[in-house]
Amino acid sequence: METFRAHILTPLSSDLRHRTSDSAVRRVHRAPSLSKGELRTRDDIDRAWADWPDGRLDVEDGQIRSVGPWRRTSPYTDLRPHLVIPGLVDVHAHVPQLPVCGVHPDNLLDWLQKWTFPLEARFRGARARTLSASFIREMLGHGTTTAALYTSAWPDSVEACFAAAREAGIHAWIGPPLMDVDTYRPVTTRRVLDEARHLSRLDSPRLRFAVTPRFALSCSMDLLCGAGDLAREFNLPIQTHLAEQQAECREVRRRFRRSYLHVYERAGLVGHQSLFAHAIWLTDADWARLSTAAIAHCPTSNVFLGSGVMDWWRAQSARVGLGSDVGAGPDLSIFRVARTAWTVHSLAGAAPNAADLLRAATLGGAAALGFDSVGSLEAGKSADFVVLDAARVIPRGAPDVESTEDLLSRILHRAGRSSISHVYVGGRLVVDNVALRSNG
Ligand code: GUN
Ligand code: FE
Repeated sequence: METFRAHILTPLSSDLRHRTSDSAVRRVHRAPSLSKGELRTRDDIDRAWADWPDGRLDVEDGQIRSVGPWRRTSPYTDLRPHLVIPGLVDVHAHVPQLPVCGVHPDNLLDWLQKWTFPLEARFRGARARTLSASFIREMLGHGTTTAALYTSAWPDSVEACFAAAREAGIHAWIGPPLMDVDTYRPVTTRRVLDEARHLSRLDSPRLRFAVTPRFALSCSMDLLCGAGDLAREFNLPIQTHLAEQQAECREVRRRFRRSYLHVYERAGLVGHQSLFAHAIWLTDADWARLSTAAIAHCPTSNVFLGSGVMDWWRAQSARVGLGSDVGAGPDLSIFRVARTAWTVHSLAGAAPNAADLLRAATLGGAAALGFDSVGSLEAGKSADFVVLDAARVIPRGAPDVESTEDLLSRILHRAGRSSISHVYVGGRLVVDNVALRSNG
């Protein structure tokens, strides 16, 4: 067993919350100052975080055995004065697209055709193996230990990504973007579905094979329905894009003669294992029909491509996680995504608070992906955590004792890759930027 001593901060899942009488458990939720109609937001006690300024984390066989206030033991790894938080969760990113990050802020449909599809067309063979491994390393370097990923449409890129994720020990959804319209590789609908069926053998509890119809405009109705059938037959999760830009929504209506969400519903793609990226241009009725599904909120991408602002408060009726949407997002930093969410929603009238955004970045993302063994630091979960350099998060001269809310706000507004000193996945040190001290 390995014991860590640090300032530990974690959101709590509701089960544990009811069992604990620990005074470290704080309710840090403030109701939004502006309420919009009949919004369904979750009970504020659901937003509890635990905060142990002098905390102890016991790890055994890759799992958290216990977590709580410090008790003497020997030996232990002394991470003080650093902060330990759960590994971050990125619920939407494209593995082949890292090389296009930060350039060509075009509209979605032009951006795909001009920059993204040509890049994905080359993502296969040795290039896919090398770049998948470096993508996962880059992701871990940003503190992300769980993700939902799109590969390229080439089947061997899926194998490459599974291999890199397995090697890192992370939890992930991985799937190839299924396309039979305007695609960058010549294929028939049948072939795309046969390949996906064959690749679904890679599915496991930790690394899920995700059925991934790219978006309505890349798919015939037959492909969308075939994708829905495949997911149902093998009980697989589904990820796709939904209502990202207005011109895209207009084209979907022109081509399919129904609304965007209706197209997916007809294909059997909307359910409790479905994850929709963006979800910007939706009606209230659409939101009501999405209540069992999960949403990947990708504000950095939405700003870059000029897509619009998702309605954060309406989206709370579904499970919401945060997505980098690399390469439309500028990098793999979920801290940056959470911060941008704060910015856009605050300009739109009511920002979620730091506790809610950092919950979406961790436990909320894990819930969106249906992984109950990651997302928070609780006994029985995988020991996936990030060590933040306190000096880079809390400015010199700040008060010694701050409220949990203030500390979460510091993390939201100031943390980034350069504040990460270590990252652990399943109790294994995978990012090591500073030498550790052992004590005892
Ligand atoms: N819609 C369909 N494909 C994509 C993609 O690769 N990125 C984004 N942002 N939207 C999409
Ligand atoms: Fe995307």
